[in-house]
Amino acid sequence: MRLIFLGSPGSGKGTQTQLLAQRWGLTTIATGELLRAAVHDNTPAGQRAQPFVASGQLVPDDLVNDIVAHHFRDGAPPKCFILDGYPRTVGQAKAFDQVLDETKLSLDAVISLSVPDEEIIRRLSGRGRDDDRRDILRKRLEIFHAQNQAVVDYYRPRGLVVDITAVGEVETVYAAIDRALAARKKGS
Ligand code: AP5
Repeated sequence: MRLIFLGSPGSGKGTQTQLLAQRWGLTTIATGELLRAAVHDNTPAGQRAQPFVASGQLVPDDLVNDIVAHHFRDGAPPKCFILDGYPRTVGQAKAFDQVLDETKLSLDAVISLSVPDEEIIRRLSGRGRDDDRRDILRKRLEIFHAQNQAVVDYYRPRGLVVDITAVGEVETVYAAIDRALAARKKGS
């Protein structure tokens, strides 16, 4: 399976992709984690990304596109993967389409997790990450709402979008995703 996970900060992308990766044997590419690692290691990409990540803004498309493309262009591309938190702009979605064309891979589904903002603030308050401070979290949510619909609209006409209400127990949300993916696999 080749999947994209979309959803607001704290919607459970990382939680659900980790479960899916373990249970379906998929490679996860999580741009937030890759960027935090680059910042921690003080690489040139990390130095450039740091002020954006720290203030809750999206890092520039070219930087994040290069980070993702590297996983597909350098060495054997993963045949089965989950992209967690990428693409977040239509520009990123178009750049990733190019990568898919080059590697002759296609997407199976785009999972779109939805959770009300009040629930997100409840989940992330107190997680302790710098970018979870309430003012920065509000900025991340604002940016998410400004960009996400266009990304969903980019994929929906291709019949790829699976809408999941990601509220409730983690395993209940997982079961809804698993059922939707199993149904698509059966129907393909
Ligand atoms: P990133 O790390 O991707 O952060 P995010 O999207 O803001 O998402 P989070 O990791 O905060 O949340 P999540 O949806 O993974 O939820 P999680 O499973 O952790 O990105 C960080 C930054 O990097 C961005 O702000 C940006 O600057 C930059 N960046 C990354 N990708 C980029 C891109 N493509 N372009 C440009 N910039 C980019 O769960 C959250 C919490 O909720 C956990 O405590 C969990 O235990 C809990 N939880 C999960 N599910 C449930 C549930 N069902 N019920 C109750 N609690 C739950």
